[in-house]
Amino acid sequence: MKPRVGVLISGRGSNMQALIRAAANADYPAEVALVISNRADAVGLDIARQHGIAARAIPSRNFRTDRAGHEVQIHEALIGAGCTIVCLAGYMRLLTPEFVTLWAGRMLNIHPSLLPAFPGLDTHARALAAGVKIHGCTVHLVTAAMDEGPILAQAAVPVLPDDTETVLGDRVLTQEHIIYPMALLHYIDSKPTHPESVAALLSPCA
Ligand code: GAR
Repeated sequence: MKPRVGVLISGRGSNMQALIRAAANADYPAEVALVISNRADAVGLDIARQHGIAARAIPSRNFRTDRAGHEVQIHEALIGAGCTIVCLAGYMRLLTPEFVTLWAGRMLNIHPSLLPAFPGLDTHARALAAGVKIHGCTVHLVTAAMDEGPILAQAAVPVLPDDTETVLGDRVLTQEHIIYPMALLHYIDSKPTHPESVAALLSPCA
């Protein structure tokens, strides 16, 4: 059985869609089982449903001061859907160390810069302001520190003289859609023991 992947989003979900499209291929070694958004108005939820993927909002606004309570709901939804891997795809809410620990080694993130350069927000504007000539994107395993963790894949793009934030961001995004499905594929291929480790994930919730 293919490992089931839960995708966490907050907005338009174009990286989520790239993962769904890749996983629709019979040869792809993972299945997108569930999409969760922390925003009820995320466009990506509708896109996921159009692809026939279960999608639900677990709004973080209902849990403003209870980050852990929000994550319990997310965790239970992921486990309920049989997910053993989580892909953060434009998920814009910080995760607690406890949640990160629960999914350690099983949670991937895509970030719009060549980490360790430009962690955090506004990466394209900051790249332009810094005058770098090469920019890009990174897929990495999630660890407790924001936008850190072992790098699984990167793609570089040139920064051209007339670039605006939008133009540069679009150039990077095109590469994100290529490397995220590729990084997930290589990650799974390098870890043949996924199915038998589901029990380890289920126990913290039991
Ligand atoms: C993507 O560029 C992704 O790399 C970025 O948010 C965008 C989401 O777009 N993620 C981060 O900045 C996380 N630190 P999408 O919803 O169309 O995939």
